[in-house]
Amino acid sequence: MGRKFFVGGNWKCNGNTEEVKKIVASLNAAQVPSQDVVEVVVSPPYVFLPLVKESLRSDFHIAAQNCWVKKGGAYTGEVSAEMLVDLNVPWVILGHSERRALLNESSEFVGDKVAYALSKGLKVIACIGETLEQREAGTTVDVVASQTKAIAEKISDWTNVVLAYEPVWAIGTGKVASPAQAQEVHVELRKWLKANVNADVAASTRIIYGGSVNGGNCKDLASQPDIDGFLVGGASLKPEFIDIIKSAE
Ligand code: G3H
Repeated sequence: MGRKFFVGGNWKCNGNTEEVKKIVASLNAAQVPSQDVVEVVVSPPYVFLPLVKESLRSDFHIAAQNCWVKKGGAYTGEVSAEMLVDLNVPWVILGHSERRALLNESSEFVGDKVAYALSKGLKVIACIGETLEQREAGTTVDVVASQTKAIAEKISDWTNVVLAYEPVWAIGTGKVASPAQAQEVHVELRKWLKANVNADVAASTRIIYGGSVNGGNCKDLASQPDIDGFLVGGASLKPEFIDIIKSAE
């Protein structure tokens, strides 16, 4: 079974109502490959989810940027998986390196979040990736394997998971991983899934790359056999996001 190309746009903590309306208008007007070729998911900040949901073209989908690890309740400032389901938000990004680093989210916590979100019917973009220090120490594969293991230990069905490999040193820095560097890690991740989950999951799970992807470098990255798409930050706020979507074909 082929893996459908996936392009996610993570808007992070950016935008106001006017800017969000402009981005949606530009996405709505874009000519892009069909849904059979590419799955497009944009992830605005929570407060703009209803606005984007009601105004975005129906062949593009939306994701929240996080959700709480269990059922909602007395967790000030958090948003539950149940609330996202209630709003018909189909996707959620979990384990982004910014949350791991700035909010001290551990791999175990991320694994619990992924399991809970899936149990409520959400689809998950699960992020993993090494720091520059870890890469220079030669531990990249160990790090991403251990982050993936923390998820694999908590879930049994990978159908609704997209794994986003995002080297921390490439995020927002303009230092994109080379196609060969990204491909190498994606291959290792697929090997890990084959050895530790099963061959079907290894072959069918989409592994996407994130970190300084832009309109200029997306084509070369997309040509790698194990790069099944992108999670785009900065460039997802700009018109070049359309070019990144087009790199699917
Ligand atoms: O979630 C997206 C990643 O953090 C990549 O961000 O494209 O701005 O480097 P970036």
